[in-house]
Amino acid sequence: MRTTGALALVLAFLSTLGTAHATDDATLARGRYLAVVAGCNDCHTSGFTTLGGKVPETEWFKGDSLGYAGPWGTTYAPNLRLTIARMDLPTWTTWARSVVLRPPMPYWSLNTMSEDDLTALWHFTRSLGDPGSPAPTALPPGREPPLPVFRLIVPAMPEGTSR
Ligand code: HEC
Repeated sequence: MRTTGALALVLAFLSTLGTAHATDDATLARGRYLAVVAGCNDCHTSGFTTLGGKVPETEWFKGDSLGYAGPWGTTYAPNLRLTIARMDLPTWTTWARSVVLRPPMPYWSLNTMSEDDLTALWHFTRSLGDPGSPAPTALPPGREPPLPVFRLIVPAMPEGTSR
């Protein structure tokens, strides 16, 4: 009796593995698709826009040292492998639904993603392997960023007003 119970448990466990694997292929494919069509690679993968997307997947989502300077200071697209490695799946989906980030990150796109899409991105990002090193830390307004930098130039505002 005991043996049958144990065997049933092992079989149940093995069937879970089988299902998880089948889901994984579709989930990973969905995450890969989103990384490209939702434009995440454009900023979070170094060289993606200048090379017309011809960057090997081994380099995707490692962040970039290209600065985006404007009234908000200078921001850098972070290494998403490190971001996602820090969060379990429920933490990621909850956080991604509500986070507000600085330009030019389209955080509203992230906020609007379905649970399935966020799940797919999480699994796909974790599947990419070695996280690599962090992107540079953002600089506060008024600090001159090193090159290369995208710069948003806005007209000077009259004294005492803010944008
Ligand atoms: C136009 C460039 C751009 C695009 C496109 C873009 N991002 Fe970002 N992303 C950024 C920048 C810059 C930051 C840093 C914002 C800040 O410092 O507040 C950022 C921050 C983030 C963060 C926070 C990471 C952390 O560790 O704090 C996440 C998560 C993220 N982006 C995911 C995505 C996803 C998913 C997509 C695709 C839907 C995407 N981004 C598209 C530029 C971009």
